[in-house]
Amino acid sequence: MATFHFDYILHDSINELSEEEKKCLLSAQAICKKAYAPYSNFHVGASVLLDNGLLIEGVNIENASYPVGICAERSALASALSSHPEAIIEIMAISYLDSKNNSNAPIAPCGLCRQFLLEVENKQAKPIKIILGGLSGDIMIIPTVKHLLPLYFDAKNL
Ligand code: THU
Repeated sequence: MATFHFDYILHDSINELSEEEKKCLLSAQAICKKAYAPYSNFHVGASVLLDNGLLIEGVNIENASYPVGICAERSALASALSSHPEAIIEIMAISYLDSKNNSNAPIAPCGLCRQFLLEVENKQAKPIKIILGGLSGDIMIIPTVKHLLPLYFDAKNL
């Protein structure tokens, strides 16, 4: 039997993070409150830290025609790639606030966003570190997008 496993780091306090990691997660935690999510009331924030030191933020932006909405992760990546196409994305932090104001465990990006992240990681040929954390509770650090999307489809399959 073949198996797949991946390594990640689990922290129980934001104070255990490096300064860069902390900056990125604090930014995602703050920005999720600005999400436009009138239909789900599930507010997501994503922040990416670029190798030039800039932090770029994104939120989920919903639409009355539901599939038209965009997730926070792709919103942040689209913004970063539009303004700084040459920059390397070092870290993406993702946080959220749900419809009952709960946010005490990490959430992971949806499948569409994993595929989008993978393309960016391959384009820059450098891993993107993913930080998942609510406004409180455990924090997961995953060293590369590839861990989140085993057996992925990419350009080499075309
Ligand atoms: N959402 C995100 O922004 N990121 C994810 O990874 C999961 C889901 C958004 C999409 C939608 O606006 C709301 O959360 C509920 O699915």
